[in-house]
Amino acid sequence: MLVPPPQFEDRDEQELLLCGPGPSNLLPSVRKDMTKPVLSPICDDYFNVMSDIRTGLKYAFQTKSELILAISGSGHSGMETIITNLLGPSDTLLIAKRGIWDLRAETIAYKHGIPTHITEVPFNATFSFEQLEAALSNYRPTALFITHGDSSTGTIQRLEGLGHICHKYGTLLLVDTVVSLGAVPFLMDEWGVDAVYTSTQKALSGPAGITPVAFSELAQQKINSRTHEPAFYFDVKLIAKQWNCFEKSKNYHHTLSPPLIWALRRSLIELSNETLPKAWSRHAQTTALFHKMLSNYGFEFLIPKPEDRLATVTTVKVPNGCVDQDFMNHIRYKHGIVIFGGLGPTVGKALRIGIMGVNSNEDVVTKVVQAMVDATRTVMKSKI
Ligand code: GLV
Repeated sequence: MLVPPPQFEDRDEQELLLCGPGPSNLLPSVRKDMTKPVLSPICDDYFNVMSDIRTGLKYAFQTKSELILAISGSGHSGMETIITNLLGPSDTLLIAKRGIWDLRAETIAYKHGIPTHITEVPFNATFSFEQLEAALSNYRPTALFITHGDSSTGTIQRLEGLGHICHKYGTLLLVDTVVSLGAVPFLMDEWGVDAVYTSTQKALSGPAGITPVAFSELAQQKINSRTHEPAFYFDVKLIAKQWNCFEKSKNYHHTLSPPLIWALRRSLIELSNETLPKAWSRHAQTTALFHKMLSNYGFEFLIPKPEDRLATVTTVKVPNGCVDQDFMNHIRYKHGIVIFGGLGPTVGKALRIGIMGVNSNEDVVTKVVQAMVDATRTVMKSKI
């Protein structure tokens, strides 16, 4: 007997304003390009789209590196790719720990038998270069992993020149830019970054599921001389041959998702058309307005130092007398806006609001602040 065919309900969901730490809403041009024709992995059109993506990524990361491509997977696939291509059990990874992503890096290292050292700050702070240099000099690790923008805490880590400090100790610099790239300045080559990954669904306003990565020349030398093997699916030596990083090899490694490569190509075209300086200043200005309005209405920031606050994801304390889930539900069901609660070290302590990509504008800020003020009043009143 066959299992009978299931019945499915219609699911035409209401389009919400996505102001959590990601995903953000899609750019209209990205949504349109996702319906372009399916590309076959043996056709020239497919390789042409991949070539456009590599060109756009060199601009987005500000690098001349040739080992630049996108992994088929969410942001975590980028984390796993940069760590496991560069380090194996005979290496050591120093993790600068302040939020959940550094904890994830530790877990990935553990699963691959890579020994780790930790240097830590409280979740609401960022690292001084003195602290990082002391740890580098103490441990002399193969690589340092650090998160640029941390969506779990709402902090931005200063990185300018950190790579050159790492290199003094023979250490490679590995950076997570998932919630910062395209919104906050990031200069891979100038800052001496050796391996980096980002997301597509945050400041680039594309769909999740494809993750850009780039490796410096120093990182490439390490990959070429490594004595361990990463997983087949994440091995950039193999994937680079599909992405034609060094020659027109056009190898087949796996089937990339055509809607996702069309989407990433379009996000990168939009970023290039706007230009990085304009995208950075748009995010800075929008967030300055958002923070001013939040202060005026009495919301308290979780991150005490204004210079540590991230321009894409803002963390505020849950208003006194409110339960975070009630607050979020009110905003979702009354105003059609999604914001998130805390994650990792900020669980129960914070509301996380992402104003980024296509949503980084005054109109969105006004809607979100009005909804937050209304939620505070309504949720508190319902408790009296
Ligand atoms: C996901 O990236 C999150 O910060 O919740």
